[in-house]
Amino acid sequence: MGQETVLILNFGGQYTQLIARRVRQLHVYSQVLPYTATMDQIREIAPKGIIFSGGPSSVLDPEAPRVPMEIFELGIPILGICYGMQLMGHLLGGRVAPAEKREYGLVQVRMNHLCPILRDTEANNPCWMSHTYQVMELPEGFGTVAGTDTCPIAAMANEEKKFYGVQFHPEVTHTQHGMSILEHFLMDVCGCAGTWNMGDYAQQQIQLLREAIGKDTVLLGLSGGVDSAVAAALLAKAIGDQLTCVFVDHGFLRKGEFEQVRAVFTDTFPVKLVAVDARQHFMEKLAGVTDPETKRKIIGREFVEVFKEESRKLGKLDHFAQGTIYPDVIESGGAQGAHVIKSHHNVGGLPAELGFTTLIEPLRMLFKDEVRELGIALGLPESLVWRQPFPGPGLAIRVMGDLTEEKVQIVRESDAILREEIAKAGLDREIAQYFTVLTGVRSVGVMGDERTYDYAVAIRAVTTDDFMTADWYPIPYELLGQISRRIVNEVKQVNRVLLDVTTKPPASVEWE
Ligand code: XMP
Repeated sequence: MGQETVLILNFGGQYTQLIARRVRQLHVYSQVLPYTATMDQIREIAPKGIIFSGGPSSVLDPEAPRVPMEIFELGIPILGICYGMQLMGHLLGGRVAPAEKREYGLVQVRMNHLCPILRDTEANNPCWMSHTYQVMELPEGFGTVAGTDTCPIAAMANEEKKFYGVQFHPEVTHTQHGMSILEHFLMDVCGCAGTWNMGDYAQQQIQLLREAIGKDTVLLGLSGGVDSAVAAALLAKAIGDQLTCVFVDHGFLRKGEFEQVRAVFTDTFPVKLVAVDARQHFMEKLAGVTDPETKRKIIGREFVEVFKEESRKLGKLDHFAQGTIYPDVIESGGAQGAHVIKSHHNVGGLPAELGFTTLIEPLRMLFKDEVRELGIALGLPESLVWRQPFPGPGLAIRVMGDLTEEKVQIVRESDAILREEIAKAGLDREIAQYFTVLTGVRSVGVMGDERTYDYAVAIRAVTTDDFMTADWYPIPYELLGQISRRIVNEVKQVNRVLLDVTTKPPASVEWE
């Protein structure tokens, strides 16, 4: 028996990948296809259920995206969400029209609990709405199962045919009990078992990558971060030494980072690894530079130069791989699609400069927590998978002003102590990001009988959802005391520890 799959047909809705993610969260494998998928394609997948996504169009527009009528004759359960519901309503003979009042945001929806998918909702259930059109008259065989003041048919059901439509978005967290609606559709209506997991996903992706890449060679840049490491691990399992990873040490990595990444991709996931020690090169280029923006620019530019130089030495490889994840795709306004190798007309930045026209982005459909889960499923160490975000310019932007090896060493050592203590206290997954900063300030102190004139190190720890805004995290006093004691005792040239208690805005998370 093939794997149980739920097909999501994409009508261009902003939440399509979120629907896919929710289905995966419920342990059902989901595949997203554009609405133009052919009936043959759909039959071949033989999905247990089909979900029509939302979308920006109006079904009344003759050019609007639609599906062949045969899809309703397959005997497969269908859930239409927002535009998906309107499309179902329209195609099956109901009437769709502009709503009297556009509904946007949280709306109280009255639910009929006799409907199998709405069973666990509240009688007045807050749901996320975003629509201009709505179903005004039901198609034959359907009943109304939810409504609002301005949208009398907020959900419809044809239980016999197992067709359901919801005008609201169950995939969005604001919709209370949204997950239970999806769960009932998948398990009770579609009859899914819900046994799929990230380990299966890894196996499928490995197989897909093998088929797509064949005997070709692939270049991937390791940054030390989670995403590129997971992408590399996946590719390593798929194509082994057809993969070459270039890992540049610019000298501003965290303590033990270079060694850990090198060990993982030498021992656990053997690939052709080019580990470049460019520490001196970077330090020379940054000598005497104090302006934060200039520092960042130099590091960015030199990184590309070193990377280019190394890949030139390797000769021509066939494809360039990146650990792009779904939020990056959204941020860059990128196109959707689930192809393993994409021919990019618009490859920007490094890959294009290196002459690559094809990109492999095996994580582009995953959200960050799924990437972590995949990393664990592949066997990457937790310490690598649960890394906190770390800026490309690394510790260089955590030393205020001009850089010296000595100063970088101070942040590196103090940061290692901070990380160790936070982990020991069990707070490492609670605080979104925490690190130390070498402030430009030196102050007077006493150590033993001697007067000192040494650096002040600041602790920055923040909680945040999206890093656009952040709040400082109240590290318990006792723990702060322990961290401070250890830093002044163990890190040379530090005689004072400060705590940054500023939100973002007005401060940024990093100090430079
Ligand atoms: P800021 O300082 O802008 O930081 O409030 C927000 C988040 O972004 C990270 N950050 C970077 N990440 N390259 C990166 O990959 C960079 O140049 C960079 N600068 C800041 C920062 O660590 C925080 O998580």
